[in-house]
Amino acid sequence: MKVAFFDTKSYDRRAFESVGESEDIEFKFFESKLNLDTASLAFGCEGVCIFVNDTADSQVIDKLYELGVKLIALRCAGYNNVDVRHAFGKIHVFHVPAYSPHAVAEHAMALLLTSIRRIHKAYIRTRDFNFSLDGLTGFDLYGKTVGIVGTGRIGKAFADICKGFGMNVLAYDKYPDSELSVRYVTLDELLGCSEIISLHCPLNKETYHMIDSNAIEKMKKGAVIINTSRGALIDADELLEGIKSRKIGAACLDVYEEEADIFFEDFSGHIVDDDTIARLISMPNVIVTSHQAFLTNEALENIAETTVENIKAFYKNGTCKNELCYRCGKASHCGDGSRPEKCF
Ligand code: NAI
Repeated sequence: MKVAFFDTKSYDRRAFESVGESEDIEFKFFESKLNLDTASLAFGCEGVCIFVNDTADSQVIDKLYELGVKLIALRCAGYNNVDVRHAFGKIHVFHVPAYSPHAVAEHAMALLLTSIRRIHKAYIRTRDFNFSLDGLTGFDLYGKTVGIVGTGRIGKAFADICKGFGMNVLAYDKYPDSELSVRYVTLDELLGCSEIISLHCPLNKETYHMIDSNAIEKMKKGAVIINTSRGALIDADELLEGIKSRKIGAACLDVYEEEADIFFEDFSGHIVDDDTIARLISMPNVIVTSHQAFLTNEALENIAETTVENIKAFYKNGTCKNELCYRCGKASHCGDGSRPEKCF
């Protein structure tokens, strides 16, 4: 079976080639991202395999359907870039619900420590044999309050890490987990009480720009924001204003709302047109990584294995346990069958 693999990077190819070959799946690797202009590359393929910045909106889905594509295999957890509703009745959509929540949670903590202990500044100094400590004063995490928005797989793993640091953990989730030993509060209370706020909920209509000037207004002065989830959870322009006004103490961003045209590519030596990301990166208290939180050997292996299992299960049974609301659009056919809202 042939699967068109969009937005291919060398590390994807290494991970997928070996797993795919042994299962008789032929991946056709393309560097282009999936969009209306590139969808025709899937000609002759029964499936497409896509990542976070590929676009599978209604027009792309119609084009793929015309070409005879039967499945979209997301090699990631989030699926805000796929019009799952529109795919209903046309193309089956699968994702990889969990490949390493630890990879993302550990990256969130790495960003936090780097930022508040000024490691990014110290690294550059000592490479230049500048051993002065002026301007590198940080603060202890021990005893500080962290507010975690979204206590699913990644949020839970992050909560455990924070507890290990002796932090007080507050949480907000639309569907609180009664078995988790954290104190659930309202979003407003979390914003008002936390020194550090980390976002781990999905992007959907409800969570779009959940961190805007209003939310920033409610935060403590000097609050640190971490976003390893999806860029558009934060209104980047309003975050920038919060930083310029000194209300926000630091921002640790692995995702950015306009990342699709920038992240994963080398723009060194080019002029970046996006003034918001350029200004954010220029700030001494902002750290940006390029949607890197998932990138560990363990996660890449799990992603490749689960994606191939999803494709194989589809060919055998016509569906698979990681399918997103294809058959009837109802909760019972969601990946984990528990929460209809999470798909739409
Ligand atoms: P998950 O589905 O296990 O957990 C998401 C949690 O958010 C659930 O507990 C859910 O109840 C909660 N939630 C849903 N709507 C909410 C709302 N309106 N307000 C507050 N909470 C809400 O997902 P998981 O695996 O923990 O992933 C979280 C997000 O991390 C994904 O949606 C994805 O966008 C992002 N991600 C980023 C990666 C990166 O490399 N930066 C890699 C993997 C995931």
